[in-house]
Amino acid sequence: MSVLIAPSILSADFAALGAAVAAVERGGADLIHVDVMDGHFVPNITMGPPVVKSLHRVATVPLDVHLMIEEPDRYIDAFVDAGAAMISVHVEILPHLHRTVHAIKALGARAGVVLNPSTPVGAIHEIAADVDFVLVMSVNPGFGGQTFIPRSESKLREVRALLDAAGSVAPIEIDGGVDRHNIARVVAAGARMVVAGSAIFNTPDPERATRAMAPALKDAPDLFTDEQSLGDMEKAGWSDTPRCFLGNHEFARLPEPRGVRTICGISCGSRKPGESDGADITRLAGNRRNIESRVNYLCGRLNLGRQRL
Ligand code: DX5
Ligand code: ZN
Repeated sequence: MSVLIAPSILSADFAALGAAVAAVERGGADLIHVDVMDGHFVPNITMGPPVVKSLHRVATVPLDVHLMIEEPDRYIDAFVDAGAAMISVHVEILPHLHRTVHAIKALGARAGVVLNPSTPVGAIHEIAADVDFVLVMSVNPGFGGQTFIPRSESKLREVRALLDAAGSVAPIEIDGGVDRHNIARVVAAGARMVVAGSAIFNTPDPERATRAMAPALKDAPDLFTDEQSLGDMEKAGWSDTPRCFLGNHEFARLPEPRGVRTICGISCGSRKPGESDGADITRLAGNRRNIESRVNYLCGRLNLGRQRL
């Protein structure tokens, strides 16, 4: 199944963000999650567009910018200019959420909407068909290192059901208190992008901690076949992509459509029934021909040219 790991640099050493990004990328990070806080919407202040711009210079994976600020509309342009590939905004503060979501998309970034723990799932009912992804907060936003709120698990299922009912195959991201012990559960509940801050950076070896997230997924039941997840991503418009992943390992870079910054978490393993992606990664890593034929197949399906392997 396709699951993207998004280390949150909120818990990294802010004096060495470049090194932090490099470490988690070596560990297989698929996205870099950037928490922007203004001291108003949440009781903490972090970083703004200049920091995102600097991160963009060093990161090779897309920047996933989570705006925890009161007036996101004023800053969306600046964050996209700075290099944000994904921008998520909180439903709690936006009276014109539809306008904001489409403004983000019009700028060429992926638009996500975020639900706080106390916000009912129904708050995204009218916007479900428009969003590129939904972020479910599993802690109250503002700080790293908090405890996962258990109710978030059933909330993931409810969000998935709401999106399905709306005909949307937008992936769900989960953020807060996720570690290698509960990642399988949140993925089983429907999360396809997983943010982890303290579980990665409050360790002596963030590279290793990032790498440890993927094997922890093997306990999650297989919810999608390759074909299903590919079809879902295509339907969601996530397939016009510069990147291709084998599990969490990028192994091919696809041509980037002009002006579009997107990502894709296609599972490209040639999986046999009952075999998990985790097992495939190791086995297929040494089987170049297998991977190449799979990538060729996917590129054909996605109408993309041949890519560099
Ligand atoms: C919380 C932030 C999270 C935070 C997660 O407000 O949105 O992204 O960094 O940190 P952990 O994984 O430590 O809960
Ligand atoms: Zn976040």
